[in-house]
Amino acid sequence: MIKIITTEDGSHSLYDEELNETYHSTRGARGESMHVFIREGLEYWLSKNQREEVCILEIGLGTGLNAFLTAQFAESRKMKVHFTSLEPFPIESQVYENLNFHTSTYEKELLQEIHKSEWEMEQVVTPFFKLKKTKTKLEDFSSDARFNIIYFDAFAPSKQPEVWSLENLEKCFSLLESGGALTTYCAQGQFKRNLAEAGFEVETLQGAMGKKEMVRGVIK
Ligand SMILES: C[S@@+](CC[C@H](N)C(=O)[O-])C[C@H]1O[C@@H](n2cnc3c(N)ncnc32)[C@H](O)[C@@H]1O
Repeated sequence: MIKIITTEDGSHSLYDEELNETYHSTRGARGESMHVFIREGLEYWLSKNQREEVCILEIGLGTGLNAFLTAQFAESRKMKVHFTSLEPFPIESQVYENLNFHTSTYEKELLQEIHKSEWEMEQVVTPFFKLKKTKTKLEDFSSDARFNIIYFDAFAPSKQPEVWSLENLEKCFSLLESGGALTTYCAQGQFKRNLAEAGFEVETLQGAMGKKEMVRGVIK
């Protein structure tokens, strides 16, 4: 059973009863996504690469919050984003239709578009944001395309250790272009060691919403 919860910054998240796990930090879903993925992922990469087009891979579409914020960022910067998101367990329409991420009708429609867009083929969501959703686990995912940034937003390693395996991180390394970056809210020791073993340069950064740490893995 999946329930909508309200986090401390007022934005919604979800609680998965079976896993006893939330989809975001209870200190703030929106604040966490903005910090970990938009600022320390997308804005960081753009500061190192002056490009007008970027390919992003997300591990775990979930509520669609990262896709939604990225689409808005793309529009504000007038830059093109190709966003691929893996989600083996999509949420139901009665859940996403009630999420409160929007502040306008346009934004409400944007989140609905993200969830309603067809699976397994790239769809034009806005003139700046193309989305390909795939109902695949990272463990089973393969792609000829290469990405610039990976938003690694799986459930915590204590809940889903298989997703954070060395093998999966090696796959992420091979899916990224040179200069690429992987960001995540997680700063667990074994994960950081696996990330380094997979070939990444590991940077431990200030975490989101008062959390001590988060991690970025960079391919130099
Ligand atoms: C932390 S939550 C999602 C966060 C999401 N980015 C959001 O903003 O709501 C993790 C997501 O990963 C998905 N997931 C579970 N197992 C996975 C796997 N093996 N590969 C990729 N995604 C997985 C879950 O269904 C869930 O939606």
